[in-house]
Amino acid sequence: MVFLGNERKTSLRKLALALRASPRETSDALHRLKRLGYPLRFSRAGAIERLPFRIIDAQQLRADLSTERIGRRIEWRLHVHSTQDELKKLEGEAEDGTVLLAETQYAGRGRLTRSWLSPAGGIWMSVLLRPTWPKSHQILALAFATAVARAIRAVAGVSPLLKWPNDLVVQSRKIAGVLAEASYDGSKLNQLIVGLGLNANIKTTLFPEELQGRVTSINREVGREVDRILLTRRILEETDDAYLRFESGEASELLHEVKRLCSTVGQEVEVTTVDGKFKGEALDIGEDGQLIVRLGNGATVPFYAADVAHLR
Ligand code: BTN
Repeated sequence: MVFLGNERKTSLRKLALALRASPRETSDALHRLKRLGYPLRFSRAGAIERLPFRIIDAQQLRADLSTERIGRRIEWRLHVHSTQDELKKLEGEAEDGTVLLAETQYAGRGRLTRSWLSPAGGIWMSVLLRPTWPKSHQILALAFATAVARAIRAVAGVSPLLKWPNDLVVQSRKIAGVLAEASYDGSKLNQLIVGLGLNANIKTTLFPEELQGRVTSINREVGREVDRILLTRRILEETDDAYLRFESGEASELLHEVKRLCSTVGQEVEVTTVDGKFKGEALDIGEDGQLIVRLGNGATVPFYAADVAHLR
């Protein structure tokens, strides 16, 4: 897309010349881009056409945006390695509530150092928060994910559940994930960068085979594309509301909403941590956002950072 500049059509030969690459290398690279969701069409005769694609236009996003803190500043990029890292580059000058969105990420990151596939059509964004209320940042991340679920329900009519810690799932298939990266000054939370990856308008066939059957997207669920600007705006509004409530000390109400949406509590689970795997029954979410599990040996253990599989 970038290579095409303002032109809608070009030829493989012209593009290869401009890139100083062979037609074969150019064609391979273009096909890789197409697999990443770029709206390209190829003809047998070597013509390359860019299909219409609506980006998340930050100006339109700002119009009618009614938030107090989240979205006071909005940055948009076409491609980045990771919006988390791009936002960190701004952090000294960035104010509380700064949002950074990208159309695609080359090296999107998930929790537990996993990679996160970020083709065109998703919502990939990071938000910088500098909370002043001295409560666990885990609650804020859980409240953030719950607020995103509310926005998806309102705009797209899909009702995801929360899988602890921060996954949104529709019939056990993951539709979105939240990554919260905190930095502390001693024991004081300095800032939190909350990343959201939401499979909005994405063909799930783009995902690797091992993820097929475990992921979904909004357009797969509803059979049509969702307006990403409307949805992003609503996400900013719902998360802003949750953030303001967190800041005014309503953590227990937020936790209550989290628990209502959470499909993990009551399940037989397998919890994976750096110390190994544990099986048991998920009993509750504690006031710091930890998952409380009764293990097979009867011990009740809180898990703060872990991955969870629902066993039934
Ligand atoms: C997870 O479920 O593992 C969390 C996924 C978070 C992905 C988002 S996409 C935007 C932001 N930038 C990243 O590199 N990761 C987060």
